[in-house]
Amino acid sequence: MILQKTKNYSPDKLNSIKQLSDYKDLVLQYAPIENEYRYALREMSAKLENLDDYCQMRFAHNPIHHIESRIKTLDSIIEKIERRGYEPTLDNLRTYIYDIAGIRVVCKYINDIYQIVDLLSKQKDLEIMIKKDYIVHPKDTGYRSLHIVFIIEIYVDDEIKKVPVEIQFRTLAMDMWACLEHELRYKSHNQLSITQQNELKEYSSTLYNVDLNMQKIYISTIVGDDDND
Ligand code: GTP
Ligand code: MG
Repeated sequence: MILQKTKNYSPDKLNSIKQLSDYKDLVLQYAPIENEYRYALREMSAKLENLDDYCQMRFAHNPIHHIESRIKTLDSIIEKIERRGYEPTLDNLRTYIYDIAGIRVVCKYINDIYQIVDLLSKQKDLEIMIKKDYIVHPKDTGYRSLHIVFIIEIYVDDEIKKVPVEIQFRTLAMDMWACLEHELRYKSHNQLSITQQNELKEYSSTLYNVDLNMQKIYISTIVGDDDND
């Protein structure tokens, strides 16, 4: 199941769009380029859906619970380039921003994530550019996910282009934690107390243990090894 994210325009958003007139050159140059990211997002989403089907056929298991995808808006792209201390030019956009095409793959079990990544890494039209494993090494907040920037080859007319797509792989439990933590942090304007931050970190560990234990049960069901007997 692929969920496409569409953003509602808030007054804040309208405000920032008005400011896009300050970046006229980039706005004009970016318009045709945005399509490349859109094609890359579609091709990558198709690959993921195909792998999920393949696993169903081969292992009688759909590893992917659902997929979300989005194209980063130009105002967030500009904000990110400037936050990193660069001029908002097309060159800098291509050199420093790898998450314009972004996909979140929510899997059932931790092993599913690594299996999908293993299958993707065998595909010749894909290359791994950056890998950050926040599952094995969670962030200080407790955030867990596997982030990979893939470079995918797409055709634009008869020309092959190499386009980055960032994928965040997580389990349902990691996704639940990240969504709620994000909202709590946003709602409190990043003012969560130390106690609350520690509590959230602890819940991340608890959920990780739940992930490991649910996976153990799942494995025992497929190998028929039930030690409760
Ligand atoms: P950005 O400039 O934010 O993209 O930083 P980065 O390029 O160093 O990427 P990073 O690997 O930190 O991942 C950034 C993305 O991961 C964010 O946009 C979130 O979707 C997610 N993320 C990272 N840390 C956290 C966290 O502590 N909590 C939550 N809820 N999400 C996080
Ligand atoms: Mg990022």
